Amino acid sequence: MNKQVILKIKNLVTAFDTEEGRIRAVENVSFEVKKGQTLGIVGESGCGKSVTALSIMRLLPKPIGMIEGGKILFHDKDIVTLPAEKMHEIRGYGISMIFQEPMTALNPVHKIGKQIGEVFQLHFPDMNDKEIRKKSVEMLQKVGIPEPIQRMEEYPHKISGGMRQRVMIAMAFAGEPDILIADEPTTALDVTIQAQILKLMEALQRETGMAIIFITHALGVIAEICDDVMVMYAGTVAEKAPVEELFKNPKHPYSIGLLSSIPRLENERKVRLKTIKGMVPSLYELPKGCRFQNRCPKAMPCCEIEPPVLKSVGEDHFVSCFLY
Ligand SMILES: Nc1ncnc2c1ncn2[C@@H]1O[C@H](COP(=O)(O)OP(=O)(O)O)[C@@H](O)[C@H]1O
Ligand SMILES: [Mg+2]
Repeated sequence: MNKQVILKIKNLVTAFDTEEGRIRAVENVSFEVKKGQTLGIVGESGCGKSVTALSIMRLLPKPIGMIEGGKILFHDKDIVTLPAEKMHEIRGYGISMIFQEPMTALNPVHKIGKQIGEVFQLHFPDMNDKEIRKKSVEMLQKVGIPEPIQRMEEYPHKISGGMRQRVMIAMAFAGEPDILIADEPTTALDVTIQAQILKLMEALQRETGMAIIFITHALGVIAEICDDVMVMYAGTVAEKAPVEELFKNPKHPYSIGLLSSIPRLENERKVRLKTIKGMVPSLYELPKGCRFQNRCPKAMPCCEIEPPVLKSVGEDHFVSCFLY
């Protein structure tokens, strides 16, 4: 299974200049995304998942956020140094992103029809208004929005959260990107809607062959839709593996902790889930050595001295831990 790599991140370092000094929210992160495949990025809140996504999109808050080092190769071309206009073309048509809260991407003062139409207009400059309108309605229909013709005339705040998320997905797919980055796209939605949205994304992926980077703090979701998984902890990569391998044979104590905190049907009510004690360390006071040491049930004296590096522990399986 040698699939074409379309995005390759190499030793990405992303920093913020804050009042208390410079912090590195992403440190030395590397991964690949293959055509038609889904990579899951998982980790607790504050682990650097969104910052990784915003770095790829070059949408870090200016001027405080910056890519300090590393490469982001999109079809073998480094986009870290790409001029803003060129990056604007890639955004939406090469790589597009859907956010946890759709209102961050939807414009509250424009009707839904106008917003989705703009994506088509930019992507297919030869299309006339009538064709754009037809395409827009079709796209809304495809993402399961009832009465799409009426919805075209509505403003984003008039529809439900689940419907807004579908509009975002419609807009993301309208540009026919090679890669879709979905940053916790279902976290704010209720469970039934979550499942519907995941199914929809899977169906659209099958149809278009696009790659997806699916970001979530819930490993349970990863099992359903991802081919590969990267577990992040405090801005670094803890473990990377094909999804089945990670679930069968997790190596990093953090991954093991995350796996044992997945809710299971039989114990949803009675058995209290195991959780990992403690919190992700603040980037302002990172420990020397391994960043997970203060919460790790397997910590050893060597973990306090220097940070572990990513090691191969099997086919396509990498872990950053002194146990191996
Ligand atoms: N705009 C910002 N200014 C300063 N620090 C930030 C900013 N955005 C993110 N960070 C830092 O990066 C860390 C990781 O954030 P983020 O990538 O959003 O985490 P998550 O994994 O929950 O998506 C945060 O805990 C914070 O320390
Ligand atoms: Mg986030």
